[in-house]
Amino acid sequence: MKDDKPATRAVALGRMSAEHFGVVNTPVYRASTILYPDYAAMVGADPEYTYGRRGTPTTRSFEAAISDLEGAARTVTVPSGLNAIATAILSVCGAGDHLLVADNAYGPTRVFCEKTLKRYGVETGYFAAGDDIAPLLKPNTRAVFCESPGSLTFEMQDIPALAKAAHANGTSVLMDNTWATPIFFQPLRHGVDLSIQAATKYVGGHADVMLGTISANESHKARLEQTHGNMGLYASGDDCWLGLRGLRTLPVRLARHQETGLTLARWLAARPEVARVLHPGLESDPGHALWKRDFSGACGLFGLVLKPVPERAVGAFVDGLRHFGLGWSWGGFESLIVPSHIVRTVRPFVAEGPVLRIHAGLEDADDLIADLEEGLERLKRAA
Ligand SMILES: Cc1ncc(COP(=O)(O)O)c(C=O)c1O
Repeated sequence: MKDDKPATRAVALGRMSAEHFGVVNTPVYRASTILYPDYAAMVGADPEYTYGRRGTPTTRSFEAAISDLEGAARTVTVPSGLNAIATAILSVCGAGDHLLVADNAYGPTRVFCEKTLKRYGVETGYFAAGDDIAPLLKPNTRAVFCESPGSLTFEMQDIPALAKAAHANGTSVLMDNTWATPIFFQPLRHGVDLSIQAATKYVGGHADVMLGTISANESHKARLEQTHGNMGLYASGDDCWLGLRGLRTLPVRLARHQETGLTLARWLAARPEVARVLHPGLESDPGHALWKRDFSGACGLFGLVLKPVPERAVGAFVDGLRHFGLGWSWGGFESLIVPSHIVRTVRPFVAEGPVLRIHAGLEDADDLIADLEEGLERLKRAA
């Protein structure tokens, strides 16, 4: 199993057919009470299943599969990606600590740090992708939180270098790895201590589940389990079942998202209405060398900077699109487009014109290009 490629492992992982009459997929367990056969079993050594919130075969199947792909000692599941981010941070940081967050982290991650964490005495600072973090690390910097490529602007981070600097200061490294998924990048193998997935996106893959995972290395496993357990966190059997089902086709879907994403990115980069495309998979992207060194692929999510146009022209472009939905998510089978609202602390993101984010879905790339082409004609007429 260990030497098998991710696509092979994604098919085989987390299956418990022998315990379920040969049924291929672990069924959905909906459970609160779990009965013990007798008193001795109840007071005896740790049984596998004790109470619904503490896990069922469905949650264990999903967690075991993610752990294997991430190369983790333990994975826990939570009700959303944002909850995975918050729980991972809470498992390492406490009152009096300093947390260093990537300036291009997912917006709600920043809000969690600035609003909620602050009330518990954790101070947050920011670093920009590419900056040396060593001078920003304080004796009380408990964790560095990063995302690569970053949300909306897609800059890459040098994760091994970042982990080296953090660990030299006794600081833990946490990474939101939703963009690459463990199929294209395994954070724990590059020095990260806690790897986070919004499984809502590509793992679920069908725009119908909210789910998060946190995968820990050996040294961070106990604190993660403790925090997860003490906060009473639990992702439902139905949702973990959807996560596991999504995982089976994840490598196949990602290959197609990657191909279509790069096709659209290259086509858009050559258009006169476009100032630049933000996609580390493009040879011209400033993060391409890092992406090529550490990642084995790209998903279908990338950014687009238009040349300066009035907002009504952006509306005209987006409103008539037939295949790109207007929705604040990504990772499902469908193509999406959203305007990007970019908040940065260290230094502003300087854009030539309006910035958009595109998710390349599983539709035929020719149809998507024809749709974008008509949209750009509308944009020009409305400008
Ligand atoms: C990079 C990234 N991380 C985390 C999340 C949060 O995931 P969820 O919506 O499941 O809370 C998102 C959602 O858009 C995201 O884009």
